[in-house]
Amino acid sequence: MTETNFVNNKKKKENTMFKDYFKYYKSRNPPPKLDDVIDIDSACKKVIQVDVKDVDNTKTFIVDKWGLKATSTWKIYKFTDIPGLIFIRNPFTSIGQRYWITKCLRDYSRKPNKLNIDAHDIIDDQENWWSIYKSDNEKSKNIVGKLRWATLGYHHNWDTKYYSENDKSPVPYELNEMTKLLSNYLGFNNFNAEAAIVNYYRMNSTLAGHVDHSENNMDAPLFSISFGQTAIFLIGGLSQQEPAYPIYIKSGDVIVMSGESRLRYHGVPKILRDENLNWKQDNPDEANIFVDSDDWNKASDYIDDARININIRQVLKIGQTSLTDNYHSN
Ligand code: OGA
Ligand code: MN
Repeated sequence: MTETNFVNNKKKKENTMFKDYFKYYKSRNPPPKLDDVIDIDSACKKVIQVDVKDVDNTKTFIVDKWGLKATSTWKIYKFTDIPGLIFIRNPFTSIGQRYWITKCLRDYSRKPNKLNIDAHDIIDDQENWWSIYKSDNEKSKNIVGKLRWATLGYHHNWDTKYYSENDKSPVPYELNEMTKLLSNYLGFNNFNAEAAIVNYYRMNSTLAGHVDHSENNMDAPLFSISFGQTAIFLIGGLSQQEPAYPIYIKSGDVIVMSGESRLRYHGVPKILRDENLNWKQDNPDEANIFVDSDDWNKASDYIDDARININIRQVLKIGQTSLTDNYHSN
């Protein structure tokens, strides 16, 4: 198999499985050819269809909230070959992106949220990841790259993959409100953010292929919001045997996995540097949210070599009040 025809060669494609694509795009030596990675902006590939028909923007939809731009400027894409997958091209202002990056680093990386580094026993009771990161000492250098994930709301259990009523913390108000804005605009009414994973990627991080099926409510869409450096996102089929589409996800981009696409294999084989750095560009007209400038300066250093993904899920069925409420059982 030569590099150049990896994705284009139809014959190969039929026999090529998710893991082959993952391995191809993950490879450092040789590095992958990026010609087949779908760039939503150029929208030149057949799989992409701009289709905002289903979006009810007849209501007065909101400008200037939670760091989002006016909804009239949003570009929304659907994929003819991937029913249910929705891509919103960065609906955030620059300052909005800074707000969410800072939130993820300063606020979501501490109790009551759970972190991968809790198990490392390196943070004292008086400290948190952000206070150590800010202190710029030896410990800070050691800890900065170790943060990989935080779980909010119903805590994702990485071993059992089941949520538990005994293992949850509040979903931050602003995160739920922002996601509700997105979901209402797209016509998914009644969405409630009940669990979130914040994934912190360094330049060499990957996320292996998986399906998210822990949620009781698989009918509700899943929102995946990314900031910082660019990812190659791979989305395959319902089984691991099917091929995958590689798609660039850039800072501010929102992916919504709804309907059938909610059950597709997906993963992140590679992080690439973003040349555009749109979160750094100042636009005073867009100052629709407050970000502390000292905190942003620190967060800005971090995101120069990192990507953050907030993965937001509804866990309960509509009308269900807790996981012990059997309302949903048939
Ligand atoms: C996840 C996930 C994708 C991303 O957290 O389940 O699929 O883009 N994240 O980081
Ligand atoms: Mn996922």
